[in-house]
Amino acid sequence: MHPSLTLHGKRILLIIGGGIAAYKSLDLIRQIKKHGGAVRVVMTKAAQEFVTPLSAASLSGHKAYTELFSLNDEAEMGHIELSRSADLVVVAPATADIIAKQAHGLANDLASTLLLATDKRVLNAPAMNLRMWLHPATQRNVTQLTADGTLFIGPDEGEMACGEYGPGRMAEPLDIVAAIAAALQGAHILPLPNQPLAGKRVIITSGPTHEPIDPVRYIANRSSGKQGHALAAAAVKAGAEVVLISGPVALPDPDGAQVQHVNTAREMLAAVEAALPADMFISTAAVADWRVEDAGTHKLKKDKGEMPALHLVENPDILATIAQRRDQRPHLVVGFAAETDHVLDHARAKLARKGCDLIVANDVSAAGGVMGGDANEITLVTAAGLEPWPRLSKTEVAEKLIAHFAGLL
Ligand code: CTP
Repeated sequence: MHPSLTLHGKRILLIIGGGIAAYKSLDLIRQIKKHGGAVRVVMTKAAQEFVTPLSAASLSGHKAYTELFSLNDEAEMGHIELSRSADLVVVAPATADIIAKQAHGLANDLASTLLLATDKRVLNAPAMNLRMWLHPATQRNVTQLTADGTLFIGPDEGEMACGEYGPGRMAEPLDIVAAIAAALQGAHILPLPNQPLAGKRVIITSGPTHEPIDPVRYIANRSSGKQGHALAAAAVKAGAEVVLISGPVALPDPDGAQVQHVNTAREMLAAVEAALPADMFISTAAVADWRVEDAGTHKLKKDKGEMPALHLVENPDILATIAQRRDQRPHLVVGFAAETDHVLDHARAKLARKGCDLIVANDVSAAGGVMGGDANEITLVTAAGLEPWPRLSKTEVAEKLIAHFAGLL
């Protein structure tokens, strides 16, 4: 069981709609209970064609409710009471019919009456034929319900019971449990199964910095920005709101990221600080360690007969500054250590010196072709130990790192 998925002490009213996915709702009852929640089950008439009230009752440990007009049920628990004693109402599978009834406020059976009478949030896990899902009427209803504050998880894409392929499969029970946990914590955007960073803000630095020597010359390094930009793209794909602060690179801005272009280390630090608060900071940039103290406004000339002496001063350490902030320190601060020798020793030392939570160490000696290349071979370094990864493309590294960081959040 994932610790963040605890539903301890929470009461879920589960409405099972009539669809082939109803069999998965029996597993959902088990998973809710396994994660500490209590479940009361209501079944529509159509749902009972797919699973029996007896199965739902056996798994939930309570009678499954099916009838709107039943004196017994009204004596035990009125329908208003049933919908209000829960912490969250979950509709799984949510058929096109139940979604339409919610959108239009119909109340002609127990399920729809409960949905209209409830004062609790409602989470729908839609499941239907993909053409029914894509139909403008259903999409209109979903848009209306979303505007009303109703939550949705899924549908997933895949092969359907009817043999067609597309969006329409009910989300997996464990993903619904994760959505229930998020909804109970007040989330307005639910993490989709492949969007573990939904609702999270991530700041990423990428590329080199250019430190002026004079108006036409600068100090730079070989960083291409490929790894940082790939991380930004992966974080966008994972559902995060991404601020990418990029030094000068020859790469296009990743779609969906808010990109800020800077030149120097000091500009980069100011941009990162202005982008706070955030849930995560990933410092991929190869920040120049030094800058020329008195980079003038005049081009240095060689006609004086002697070599100009450049007086270098140290740049601010962006990673250390952010990692050691007292206020607005992101929950997860990640650095990179590009080394040519004693990679892991240096990485461990950097982890401690900078105060970040994790260092991604890589060997950038010329033989590996990492700097500027498309592949990367990294080792994760934390206070707890080392985790070497195989050689992968920078895109694969980025996607796996983002999934890993999302788990740490
Ligand atoms: N870094 C930073 N600001 C700096 C220097 C480095 O934010 N002025 C960050 C990098 O983005 C990276 C990490 O610190 O995440 C390590 O960078 P690296 O260049 O490997 O280390 P340095 O701090 O420069 O240390 P050294 O010169 O000893 O290698």
